[in-house]
Amino acid sequence: MPLAKIPVPADLNKRPFSPQSEHAIDEAHEAIERFMLADEHFFDNFVNCDFHLVDQALSWIVENHLLTGDRFLEYGSGFGATTILASIHGMTAAGIEIEQPLVDQANALADRLKIAANFYCGSFIPRDIEGYADLAAEVQHVDTSAGDIYEQMDAAPDDFDLMFAFPWPGENGFFESVFEQTAAQGALFLTYNGIEGIRLHRKE
Ligand SMILES: C[S@@+](CC[C@H](N)C(=O)[O-])C[C@H]1O[C@@H](n2cnc3c(N)ncnc32)[C@H](O)[C@@H]1O
Repeated sequence: MPLAKIPVPADLNKRPFSPQSEHAIDEAHEAIERFMLADEHFFDNFVNCDFHLVDQALSWIVENHLLTGDRFLEYGSGFGATTILASIHGMTAAGIEIEQPLVDQANALADRLKIAANFYCGSFIPRDIEGYADLAAEVQHVDTSAGDIYEQMDAAPDDFDLMFAFPWPGENGFFESVFEQTAAQGALFLTYNGIEGIRLHRKE
């Protein structure tokens, strides 16, 4: 099943923010700064995306009726801000994160903001993925050793309508393979790619 690229508008970053999104993003930045300065934990694979740009992408997707349903999943949710923004945009939103302290931070942020979002500790990579060993050899910043968490979530990877990830440079192909092999037909895959910005694909 190929992935079809959906062009995103060049002026995506000119879109306005709702006060609720602005507030959530401000709170997320403050929480991340506090956590980093406390210096108790350091997670090599965690770096946060541009929450403003991702919020603008989410509002554009919703406004243009690109979704086949309302379920959102973040692969590697870190502080959970994108999952929280997806909930603000009306989605039933969940994030999977391998590091328990980051899951705790995401849950605390959602509670403070009074936003419904569920965060699970485990791996987003389904166990039965084809060519797993070869794919795993392609990535350095994704934990490929842990078991997946879908059963405990009472969900399957093809239950979701929009997935989001922030892959490290050069690791996009891994995320796209996981999405392509396991998402439902019609599901969307949104990625933030540093200076290359936002990409959006649909599974055909
Ligand atoms: C580049 S960070 C992005 C965090 C968040 N998505 C954002 O955009 O702010 C990638 C995150 O994926 C997590 N991670 C790595 N391997 C994982 C796995 N197999 N399952 C779930 N999370 C994973 C890391 O701990 C890290 O928090």
